[in-house]
Amino acid sequence: MDKFRDSVAVITGGASGFGKEFARLGASLGMKLVLADIEQSALDATVAELQAAGATVIGRRTDVSKAADVQALADATMAAFGKVNLLFNNAGVAPGGLVWESTEQDWDWTLGVNLHGVLHGLRIFTPLMLAAAAADPGYQGHIVNTASMAGLTAAPTFGLYCVSKQAVVALSETLFHDLGLVSEQVKCSVLCPSFVATGINRSQRNRPADGGSATTAPSRSQLAAQAMLDRGIAGATISAQDVARVTFDAIRDDRFYIFPQPQSLATVQPRFDDILGMRNPRDPFGGHPEIRAAVIAALGRN
Ligand SMILES: NC(=O)c1ccc[n+]([C@@H]2O[C@H](COP(=O)([O-])OP(=O)(O)OC[C@H]3O[C@@H](n4cnc5c(N)ncnc54)[C@H](O)[C@@H]3O)[C@@H](O)[C@H]2O)c1
Repeated sequence: MDKFRDSVAVITGGASGFGKEFARLGASLGMKLVLADIEQSALDATVAELQAAGATVIGRRTDVSKAADVQALADATMAAFGKVNLLFNNAGVAPGGLVWESTEQDWDWTLGVNLHGVLHGLRIFTPLMLAAAAADPGYQGHIVNTASMAGLTAAPTFGLYCVSKQAVVALSETLFHDLGLVSEQVKCSVLCPSFVATGINRSQRNRPADGGSATTAPSRSQLAAQAMLDRGIAGATISAQDVARVTFDAIRDDRFYIFPQPQSLATVQPRFDDILGMRNPRDPFGGHPEIRAAVIAALGRN
Protein backbone atom coordinates (compact mmCIF):
# COMPACT_ATOMS: atom_id res chain seq x y z
CA MET A 1 0.00 0.00 0.00
CA ASP A 2 1.54 3.30 -1.03
CA LYS A 3 -1.43 5.68 -1.18
CA PHE A 4 -2.06 7.08 2.29
CA ARG A 5 -3.64 10.49 1.72
CA ASP A 6 -7.43 10.32 2.30
CA SER A 7 -7.17 6.60 3.04
CA VAL A 8 -8.85 5.41 6.24
CA ALA A 9 -7.00 3.76 9.13
CA VAL A 10 -8.65 1.94 12.04
CA ILE A 11 -6.34 1.55 15.03
CA THR A 12 -7.17 -0.53 18.11
CA GLY A 13 -5.27 0.41 21.23
CA GLY A 14 -5.02 3.81 19.55
CA ALA A 15 -4.87 5.87 22.74
CA SER A 16 -1.36 4.93 23.88
CA GLY A 17 2.03 3.56 22.87
CA PHE A 18 2.34 2.12 19.37
CA GLY A 19 -1.31 2.80 18.50
CA LYS A 20 -0.97 6.50 19.28
CA GLU A 21 2.20 6.71 17.19
CA PHE A 22 0.50 4.92 14.27
CA ALA A 23 -2.22 7.57 14.54
CA ARG A 24 0.22 10.49 14.65
CA LEU A 25 2.14 9.16 11.64
CA GLY A 26 -1.06 8.35 9.73
CA ALA A 27 -2.35 11.87 10.40
CA SER A 28 0.90 13.37 9.12
CA LEU A 29 0.38 11.42 5.86
CA GLY A 30 -3.15 12.84 5.48
CA MET A 31 -5.02 9.69 6.52
CA LYS A 32 -8.47 9.73 8.11
CA LEU A 33 -8.40 7.95 11.44
CA VAL A 34 -10.66 5.85 13.61
CA LEU A 35 -9.17 5.25 17.06
CA ALA A 36 -10.53 2.49 19.28
CA ASP A 37 -9.51 1.98 22.88
CA ILE A 38 -10.93 0.76 26.17
CA GLU A 39 -9.47 3.71 28.10
CA GLN A 40 -11.90 6.56 27.48
CA SER A 41 -9.88 9.41 29.00
CA ALA A 42 -6.69 8.54 27.08
CA LEU A 43 -8.76 8.09 23.91
CA ASP A 44 -10.40 11.51 24.32
CA ALA A 45 -7.00 13.14 24.89
CA THR A 46 -5.48 11.49 21.79
CA VAL A 47 -8.42 12.42 19.58
CA ALA A 48 -8.27 16.02 20.85
CA GLU A 49 -4.51 16.22 20.18
CA LEU A 50 -4.89 14.96 16.60
CA GLN A 51 -7.90 17.17 15.87
CA ALA A 52 -6.00 20.21 17.15
CA ALA A 53 -3.25 19.32 14.65
CA GLY A 54 -5.87 19.36 11.86
CA ALA A 55 -6.47 15.60 11.46
CA THR A 56 -9.81 14.05 10.55
CA VAL A 57 -10.32 11.58 13.39
CA ILE A 58 -13.04 9.89 15.39
CA GLY A 59 -12.62 7.95 18.62
CA ARG A 60 -14.77 5.09 19.79
CA ARG A 61 -14.55 3.37 23.15
CA THR A 62 -14.14 -0.30 22.27
CA ASP A 63 -13.33 -3.44 24.22
CA VAL A 64 -11.73 -5.52 21.46
CA SER A 65 -12.41 -8.74 23.36
CA LYS A 66 -16.14 -8.18 22.73
CA ALA A 67 -17.35 -9.00 19.22
CA ALA A 68 -20.30 -6.59 19.52
CA ASP A 69 -17.93 -3.70 20.32
CA VAL A 70 -15.76 -4.46 17.28
CA GLN A 71 -18.86 -4.73 15.08
CA ALA A 72 -20.01 -1.32 16.39
CA LEU A 73 -16.53 0.04 15.59
CA ALA A 74 -16.82 -1.20 12.00
CA ASP A 75 -20.34 0.24 11.69
CA ALA A 76 -19.15 3.62 13.00
CA THR A 77 -16.19 3.58 10.59
CA MET A 78 -18.36 2.80 7.56
CA ALA A 79 -20.93 5.43 8.62
CA ALA A 80 -18.24 8.10 8.99
CA PHE A 81 -15.91 7.29 6.08
CA GLY A 82 -17.48 4.51 3.97
CA LYS A 83 -14.28 2.42 3.76
CA VAL A 84 -11.27 1.01 5.60
CA ASN A 85 -7.83 0.82 4.01
CA LEU A 86 -5.51 0.16 6.91
CA LEU A 87 -6.44 -1.92 9.96
CA PHE A 88 -4.17 -2.11 12.99
CA ASN A 89 -5.20 -4.97 15.30
CA ASN A 90 -2.93 -3.61 17.99
CA ALA A 91 -4.60 -3.46 21.43
CA GLY A 92 -2.84 -5.73 23.90
CA VAL A 93 -2.10 -6.54 27.53
CA ALA A 94 0.91 -8.28 29.11
CA PRO A 95 0.40 -10.09 32.42
CA GLY A 96 2.87 -12.76 33.56
CA GLY A 97 3.45 -15.44 36.20
CA LEU A 98 4.16 -19.17 36.33
CA VAL A 99 1.82 -21.05 34.02
CA TRP A 100 0.01 -22.93 36.78
CA GLU A 101 -0.48 -19.76 38.84
CA SER A 102 -2.34 -17.96 36.05
CA THR A 103 -6.04 -18.09 36.85
CA GLU A 104 -8.91 -18.81 34.51
CA GLN A 105 -9.66 -15.06 34.56
CA ASP A 106 -6.02 -14.28 33.68
CA TRP A 107 -6.31 -16.54 30.61
CA ASP A 108 -9.73 -15.19 29.63
CA TRP A 109 -8.54 -11.60 29.89
CA THR A 110 -5.23 -12.12 28.04
CA LEU A 111 -6.56 -14.32 25.24
CA GLY A 112 -9.71 -12.16 25.08
CA VAL A 113 -7.74 -8.99 24.27
CA ASN A 114 -4.60 -10.33 22.55
CA LEU A 115 -6.11 -13.14 20.48
CA HIS A 116 -9.88 -12.71 20.26
CA GLY A 117 -9.42 -8.97 19.76
CA VAL A 118 -7.40 -9.71 16.61
CA LEU A 119 -9.83 -12.43 15.51
CA HIS A 120 -12.82 -10.11 15.85
CA GLY A 121 -10.98 -7.47 13.86
CA LEU A 122 -10.17 -9.92 11.07
CA ARG A 123 -13.60 -11.53 10.97
CA ILE A 124 -15.44 -8.21 10.86
CA PHE A 125 -13.14 -5.92 8.85
CA THR A 126 -11.56 -8.25 6.25
CA PRO A 127 -14.82 -8.82 4.31
CA LEU A 128 -15.34 -5.03 4.16
CA MET A 129 -11.86 -4.61 2.73
CA LEU A 130 -12.26 -7.42 0.20
CA ALA A 131 -15.63 -6.00 -0.91
CA ALA A 132 -13.99 -2.60 -1.44
CA ALA A 133 -11.22 -4.29 -3.47
CA ALA A 134 -13.77 -6.13 -5.62
CA ALA A 135 -15.64 -2.90 -6.30
CA ASP A 136 -12.62 -0.73 -7.10
CA PRO A 137 -9.46 -1.92 -8.90
CA GLY A 138 -7.62 1.10 -7.44
CA TYR A 139 -8.44 0.18 -3.84
CA GLN A 140 -5.52 -0.68 -1.54
CA GLY A 141 -5.91 -2.40 1.83
CA HIS A 142 -3.45 -3.59 4.48
CA ILE A 143 -3.87 -5.29 7.86
CA VAL A 144 -1.20 -5.12 10.57
CA ASN A 145 -1.51 -7.48 13.53
CA THR A 146 0.65 -6.57 16.50
CA ALA A 147 2.27 -9.71 17.93
CA SER A 148 5.66 -9.54 19.67
CA MET A 149 9.05 -11.25 19.77
CA ALA A 150 7.21 -13.24 22.46
CA GLY A 151 5.27 -14.69 19.52
CA LEU A 152 8.47 -16.47 18.45
CA THR A 153 9.98 -17.41 21.80
CA ALA A 154 8.74 -19.02 25.02
CA ALA A 155 10.06 -17.03 27.97
CA PRO A 156 9.74 -18.33 31.53
CA THR A 157 6.94 -16.63 33.56
CA PHE A 158 5.40 -15.25 30.35
CA GLY A 159 3.21 -18.19 29.35
CA LEU A 160 0.02 -16.12 29.10
CA TYR A 161 1.62 -13.54 26.86
CA CYS A 162 3.71 -15.94 24.74
CA VAL A 163 0.72 -18.20 24.05
CA SER A 164 -1.42 -15.25 22.99
CA LYS A 165 1.27 -13.76 20.76
CA GLN A 166 2.32 -17.09 19.18
CA ALA A 167 -1.33 -17.48 18.25
CA VAL A 168 -1.26 -14.03 16.61
CA VAL A 169 1.84 -14.95 14.58
CA ALA A 170 0.23 -18.21 13.38
CA LEU A 171 -3.03 -16.41 12.65
CA SER A 172 -1.21 -13.70 10.69
CA GLU A 173 0.81 -16.19 8.63
CA THR A 174 -2.39 -18.05 7.78
CA LEU A 175 -4.10 -14.76 6.94
CA PHE A 176 -1.21 -13.96 4.58
CA HIS A 177 -1.77 -17.23 2.73
CA ASP A 178 -5.58 -16.91 2.77
CA LEU A 179 -5.51 -13.36 1.38
CA GLY A 180 -3.11 -14.52 -1.32
CA LEU A 181 -5.79 -16.95 -2.52
CA VAL A 182 -8.43 -14.27 -3.05
CA SER A 183 -6.94 -10.81 -3.67
CA GLU A 184 -3.93 -8.87 -4.87
CA GLN A 185 -5.24 -5.69 -3.24
CA VAL A 186 -5.44 -6.56 0.47
CA LYS A 187 -2.11 -7.37 2.15
CA CYS A 188 -1.06 -8.06 5.71
CA SER A 189 1.88 -7.90 8.11
CA VAL A 190 2.73 -9.09 11.58
CA LEU A 191 4.57 -6.69 13.88
CA CYS A 192 7.01 -8.33 16.32
CA PRO A 193 8.72 -5.77 18.55
CA SER A 194 10.89 -6.52 21.54
CA PHE A 195 10.81 -4.19 24.59
CA VAL A 196 9.75 -0.58 23.90
CA ALA A 197 8.73 2.06 26.46
CA THR A 198 4.91 2.35 26.30
CA GLY A 199 2.13 1.71 28.79
CA ILE A 200 2.37 -2.09 28.26
CA ASN A 201 3.96 -2.71 31.67
CA ARG A 202 0.90 -1.03 33.24
CA SER A 203 -1.70 -3.04 31.35
CA GLN A 204 -3.51 -4.03 34.58
CA ARG A 205 -4.92 -0.48 34.42
CA ASN A 206 -7.32 -1.71 31.74
CA ARG A 207 -8.30 -4.99 33.32
CA PRO A 208 -12.08 -5.20 33.57
CA ALA A 209 -13.46 -4.97 37.09
CA ASP A 210 -14.96 -8.46 36.72
CA GLY A 211 -11.61 -9.82 35.48
CA GLY A 212 -10.83 -11.36 38.83
CA SER A 213 -7.42 -10.06 39.83
CA ALA A 214 -8.08 -6.60 41.22
CA THR A 215 -8.96 -8.13 44.56
CA THR A 216 -6.27 -10.83 44.73
CA ALA A 217 -2.70 -9.96 45.67
CA PRO A 218 -0.21 -10.85 42.89
CA SER A 219 1.85 -14.02 43.45
CA ARG A 220 5.65 -13.97 43.69
CA SER A 221 5.96 -15.20 40.12
CA GLN A 222 3.58 -12.52 38.86
CA LEU A 223 5.68 -9.88 40.66
CA ALA A 224 8.85 -11.43 39.19
CA ALA A 225 7.38 -11.27 35.68
CA GLN A 226 6.33 -7.66 36.26
CA ALA A 227 9.86 -6.80 37.42
CA MET A 228 11.32 -8.48 34.32
CA LEU A 229 8.96 -6.52 32.08
CA ASP A 230 9.75 -3.23 33.86
CA ARG A 231 13.46 -3.95 33.46
CA GLY A 232 13.13 -4.77 29.77
CA ILE A 233 11.12 -1.62 29.15
CA ALA A 234 13.65 0.51 31.08
CA GLY A 235 16.41 -0.86 28.84
CA ALA A 236 14.55 -0.25 25.56
CA THR A 237 16.76 1.24 22.87
CA ILE A 238 14.11 2.37 20.38
CA SER A 239 10.91 4.41 20.83
CA ALA A 240 7.27 3.79 19.94
CA GLN A 241 7.74 6.48 17.28
CA ASP A 242 10.54 4.38 15.73
CA VAL A 243 8.24 1.34 15.72
CA ALA A 244 5.54 3.31 13.89
CA ARG A 245 8.03 4.51 11.28
CA VAL A 246 9.38 1.00 10.65
CA THR A 247 5.81 -0.31 10.43
CA PHE A 248 4.70 2.24 7.84
CA ASP A 249 7.86 1.51 5.83
CA ALA A 250 6.91 -2.19 5.82
CA ILE A 251 3.34 -1.39 4.74
CA ARG A 252 4.68 0.74 1.90
CA ASP A 253 7.11 -2.01 0.83
CA ASP A 254 4.56 -4.84 1.32
CA ARG A 255 6.72 -6.70 3.84
CA PHE A 256 5.01 -9.31 6.04
CA TYR A 257 7.40 -9.74 8.99
CA ILE A 258 8.15 -6.49 10.82
CA PHE A 259 11.03 -6.67 13.29
CA PRO A 260 11.80 -3.17 14.63
CA GLN A 261 14.73 -4.64 16.62
CA PRO A 262 16.14 -7.33 14.27
CA GLN A 263 18.98 -8.04 16.72
CA SER A 264 16.35 -9.65 18.99
CA LEU A 265 16.00 -12.47 16.44
CA ALA A 266 19.12 -13.88 18.15
CA THR A 267 16.74 -15.16 20.87
CA VAL A 268 14.62 -16.95 18.26
CA GLN A 269 17.43 -18.85 16.51
CA PRO A 270 18.22 -21.26 19.42
CA ARG A 271 14.54 -22.17 19.74
CA PHE A 272 14.23 -23.24 16.11
CA ASP A 273 17.65 -24.94 16.22
CA ASP A 274 16.44 -26.97 19.23
CA ILE A 275 13.19 -27.88 17.48
CA LEU A 276 14.96 -28.92 14.27
CA GLY A 277 17.65 -30.75 16.27
CA MET A 278 14.99 -32.42 18.48
CA ARG A 279 16.76 -31.15 21.63
CA ASN A 280 15.18 -29.95 24.90
CA PRO A 281 14.56 -26.18 24.81
CA ARG A 282 17.33 -23.92 26.02
CA ASP A 283 16.63 -20.94 28.31
CA PRO A 284 15.77 -18.09 25.91
CA PHE A 285 17.66 -15.75 28.25
CA GLY A 286 20.70 -18.04 28.10
CA GLY A 287 22.89 -15.10 27.12
CA HIS A 288 21.78 -13.24 30.28
CA PRO A 289 22.21 -15.53 33.30
CA GLU A 290 21.54 -12.57 35.60
CA ILE A 291 17.91 -12.44 34.36
CA ARG A 292 17.33 -16.10 35.24
CA ALA A 293 19.07 -15.60 38.61
CA ALA A 294 16.87 -12.57 39.40
CA VAL A 295 13.67 -14.50 38.60
CA ILE A 296 14.74 -17.51 40.69
CA ALA A 297 15.63 -15.19 43.58
CA ALA A 298 12.25 -13.44 43.28
CA LEU A 299 10.52 -16.81 43.46
CA GLY A 300 12.19 -17.35 46.83
CA ARG A 301 14.50 -20.17 45.69
CA ASN A 302 18.23 -20.07 46.41
N1 LIG B 1 5.81 -2.14 24.36
C1 LIG B 1 6.40 -3.29 24.15
O1 LIG B 1 7.50 -3.56 24.66
C2 LIG B 1 5.74 -4.32 23.26
C3 LIG B 1 6.54 -5.32 22.70
C4 LIG B 1 5.94 -6.25 21.87
C5 LIG B 1 4.59 -6.18 21.58
N2 LIG B 1 3.83 -5.18 22.14
C6 LIG B 1 2.42 -5.14 21.80
O2 LIG B 1 2.13 -3.87 21.25
C7 LIG B 1 0.72 -3.63 21.34
C8 LIG B 1 0.48 -2.20 21.79
O3 LIG B 1 0.93 -2.10 23.13
P1 LIG B 1 1.80 -0.87 23.67
O4 LIG B 1 3.16 -1.40 23.94
O5 LIG B 1 1.62 0.31 22.81
O6 LIG B 1 1.12 -0.67 25.11
P2 LIG B 1 0.11 0.45 25.64
O7 LIG B 1 -0.41 -0.05 26.94
O8 LIG B 1 0.78 1.77 25.61
O9 LIG B 1 -1.04 0.43 24.55
C9 LIG B 1 -1.99 -0.60 24.51
C10 LIG B 1 -3.36 0.03 24.31
O10 LIG B 1 -4.34 -1.03 24.25
C11 LIG B 1 -5.47 -0.59 24.98
N3 LIG B 1 -6.28 -1.73 25.42
C12 LIG B 1 -6.04 -2.61 26.43
N4 LIG B 1 -7.05 -3.48 26.55
C13 LIG B 1 -7.96 -3.16 25.58
C14 LIG B 1 -9.21 -3.70 25.19
N5 LIG B 1 -9.75 -4.75 25.84
N6 LIG B 1 -9.86 -3.14 24.16
C15 LIG B 1 -9.33 -2.06 23.51
N7 LIG B 1 -8.17 -1.49 23.85
C16 LIG B 1 -7.47 -2.04 24.88
C17 LIG B 1 -4.89 0.19 26.14
O11 LIG B 1 -5.84 1.05 26.75
C18 LIG B 1 -3.75 0.94 25.47
O12 LIG B 1 -4.18 2.20 24.98
C19 LIG B 1 0.18 -4.70 22.27
O13 LIG B 1 -0.46 -5.71 21.52
C20 LIG B 1 1.43 -5.26 22.94
O14 LIG B 1 1.26 -6.58 23.38
C21 LIG B 1 4.38 -4.26 22.96
